[in-house]
Amino acid sequence: MAELYIGLMSGTSLDGIDVILAAPRRRGFHLRSALHRPFSPQLRKQLFALQASGPDELRRASLAANELTRACAAAVRSLLSRARVAAGAVTAIGCHGQTVRHQPRAGYTVQLINGALLAELTGISVVCDFRSRDIAAGGEGAPLAPAFHSALFRTPNRDRAVVNIGGIANVTSLPARGRVTGFDSGPGNCLLDAWINAHQRLPYDRGGAWAARGRLAPRLLERLLADPYFRRRAPKSAGRETFNLDWLRQRLTANPRAVDVQATLLELTACTISRAVQTYCPDAGEVLVCGGGARNRALLSRLAALLPGSARCGHGRAGRRSRARRSPRVCLARAPDPAAQARQSARGHGRARPACAGRDLPGLRIIEPLGRQARQEFHSAFLISNQRVSAAVTTVTSDRQD
Ligand SMILES: Nc1ncnc2c1ncn2[C@@H]1O[C@H](COP(=O)(O)OP(=O)(O)OP(=O)(O)O)[C@@H](O)[C@H]1O
Ligand SMILES: [Mg+2]
Repeated sequence: MAELYIGLMSGTSLDGIDVILAAPRRRGFHLRSALHRPFSPQLRKQLFALQASGPDELRRASLAANELTRACAAAVRSLLSRARVAAGAVTAIGCHGQTVRHQPRAGYTVQLINGALLAELTGISVVCDFRSRDIAAGGEGAPLAPAFHSALFRTPNRDRAVVNIGGIANVTSLPARGRVTGFDSGPGNCLLDAWINAHQRLPYDRGGAWAARGRLAPRLLERLLADPYFRRRAPKSAGRETFNLDWLRQRLTANPRAVDVQATLLELTACTISRAVQTYCPDAGEVLVCGGGARNRALLSRLAALLPGSARCGHGRAGRRSRARRSPRVCLARAPDPAAQARQSARGHGRARPACAGRDLPGLRIIEPLGRQARQEFHSAFLISNQRVSAAVTTVTSDRQD
């Protein structure tokens, strides 16, 4: 019988927990079941408050980690019962935890989760701490997304780019031949979510409808784009400590209409993603867009408009039951931009960084539940538990063509 793994993820949008049950295959894996559990308002508040420093942080962080762990264990139980699989049949859980600090340049990244408690509550071995080893080796602490996108979407026939629009947006360049690279282009949904929440008390801007009603504020866009992060060469990574409401408010000099700020934030996201694709994946004939932001129609139209020669050519939906399964994968087919190609070949890709994904990731912490031998086959565990699982994989496994 195929080995089974569980992947658990909660991303920078702080929307909730995505959990999947999967059986690895030679390439990628077979998805057995997936579900999404929104955070309770209380847990979300706790995690949100920990995104910035404050009093009594260590205690609050430890308690929040325990609370999150209990929510993860409950999600695992629901998943297993839905799939009619016993905990004992699962080889390991790969659990990312909730990022509350990400400072690779200062040499650390913090994901809240209590792996020991999760192992105890579920009776399943837990693999966690996915990012520290990469930072220790001089990387950006985000080794999984490129490896994962590569395992699922790379094809020898054409160059592709994968854009995952979570709280922060990341881009993976998947050349038909040559090195796979990935980095964060900047904000994905995080500023759009924060602004609509501050002004309309909504968790997110459904379909980008509110942004679509506003008018672009060009001066504001210019100020936002002037942040040095956007000029920095890849590889680079960002978190909520860089892009947040304070960051935005510091750049609001005039008194624009709230709806116009939303329109401008949407443009910022589209603009920084499209520039990242053009700079680092100039030959990509296909741009696969995934993550919750792929449901933002207004954002996708801007993205398609900003990527020269692009046309929306596919929109995958796979399954009806869970929210994760409903996530669209949108494919933008595009003709390579000759000017960007020229710029790229003149510049070359960003400085090489230690590749620490896949099998070469010895720094993972394995936590065994008492009395049970953990198997040392991490590879599948961290492929399935990587950050992008929630939005991308679940859809693509059933409708991918190669
Ligand atoms: N219908 C929709 N219209 C617009 N935006 C949406 C819609 N559905 C989801 N989103 C956005 O997607 C976000 C959730 O996406 P996702 O779960 O991919 O992000 P994440 O948890 O930050 O993931 P990660 O950081 O791991 O990439 C929501 O916070 C919201 O901003
Ligand atoms: Mg999420």
